[in-house]
Amino acid sequence: MHRITYSHGVTIEASSGQTLLDASIENRVPHHHQCGGQARCTTCRVRILDGLSQVSARTPLEEQVAAQRGWDDFTRLACQTRIYGNVVARRLLQSPQDVVVLDLDELGASSGAEERELDVAVLFCDIRNFTSQTERSLPYDVVYFLNGHFAAAAEVVLNNNGFIDKYIGDGLLAVFGIRGEAPAVACRNAVRAAIGMQDAATRLSPIFERDLNISLRIGIGVHFGPAILGHVGHPGKRQITVIGNTVNVASRIERMTKQLNAPILLSDSVVTHLSGALRLGVSNKLRLKGTSEAALLHACDGFISPDPIHLVQSSFHRIAPRLIAFGERFYTILFEANPELRPLFKNDLAAQQRILVSMLSSLVKGLNRIADIKGGVRELGQRHCRYGASMNHYNKVASALLLTLVEFLGDEFSPEMRAAWIAVFGTISSLMIEGAQTVEAAPVA
Ligand code: FES
Repeated sequence: MHRITYSHGVTIEASSGQTLLDASIENRVPHHHQCGGQARCTTCRVRILDGLSQVSARTPLEEQVAAQRGWDDFTRLACQTRIYGNVVARRLLQSPQDVVVLDLDELGASSGAEERELDVAVLFCDIRNFTSQTERSLPYDVVYFLNGHFAAAAEVVLNNNGFIDKYIGDGLLAVFGIRGEAPAVACRNAVRAAIGMQDAATRLSPIFERDLNISLRIGIGVHFGPAILGHVGHPGKRQITVIGNTVNVASRIERMTKQLNAPILLSDSVVTHLSGALRLGVSNKLRLKGTSEAALLHACDGFISPDPIHLVQSSFHRIAPRLIAFGERFYTILFEANPELRPLFKNDLAAQQRILVSMLSSLVKGLNRIADIKGGVRELGQRHCRYGASMNHYNKVASALLLTLVEFLGDEFSPEMRAAWIAVFGTISSLMIEGAQTVEAAPVA
């Protein structure tokens, strides 16, 4: 066995010839691998800090990727790198935001340009009465409050394929569509994020009121239009940001949310791209500060037809604070109804619960970009097949999952939510079955 030491202080063991990615997965080290190890996504990339001579040479596929991107010898794809001795490595992508930044860098590299003009949906969110509410609060409490709010709001942005451009005081600027998504997709993601942020604020506000005497009410403005995406700042500390009138307009729309008593206000361009899909409140034609023409703004109450991704995300966020208990209860329900499944789970139950929780979190994050996570889900199906899982086990898992959701969400688990979970589970299990079928066709020695 060989040792892989990651720069975040974790050391794992790998067998000779095992890929670095497989070793990470086997040892539960979170390691992005969106294409499932096909050398297509580059999200598994690592930097070999020590022991380069102990790993395999690049495969032809990796050679191609490295040449296109001009990588030096130390940047490697973990899915293509086999281990033949001890190595020290750093995972280069550790959070969903890293993956978005990677996508931006890749797009920049492929176009050869430092700046790009894109059509994007820009979301601006701000806390109502933040200054007046917090002027007498302890600075530590204010930081705690802001971090609680930003953590929940940013999570929703990332789950909806957005990019967190920056935090500005108590405000948050997020952008949707930077990967070149169609305008309707970018706008739908932005609106879904806006609704999710309002849901999160509604959930958190009573806690902040009880603990800190601060209420969390937010206003959100969304606008769609052209913007420049570029790197700005000192060469030693540059950051990717969006610039342009679309950003200014989104910020001014947000400022109108209080005056118009609308938690979510959309510009007419957002509504046009989502024609017929939104439940709209009052519309107003107003001149925004610093602009010469009147803009048509619409209050938004949600989607007309239930949006399955939003339903799954919002139910998942409701159980998020109790995920460990959720995992425990899920396995109790599963094994009570199907005791024959217990021997298939080789790990101790606590480890198994952690795996379930992390799998569910990753799937909920990836729902919005199924194409990106297909490879990883298929590969998960292959692994399950090797552990002895068969097709009909997926139905048993699905019904245990639904029963657990019913127990945890009670009346909140609406028929629409149930249908959304069934649809999502159907998509994921079909992909896993596809992966498992490739194992059956070519059994592993
Ligand atoms: S390139 Fe390695 S997982 Fe996608």
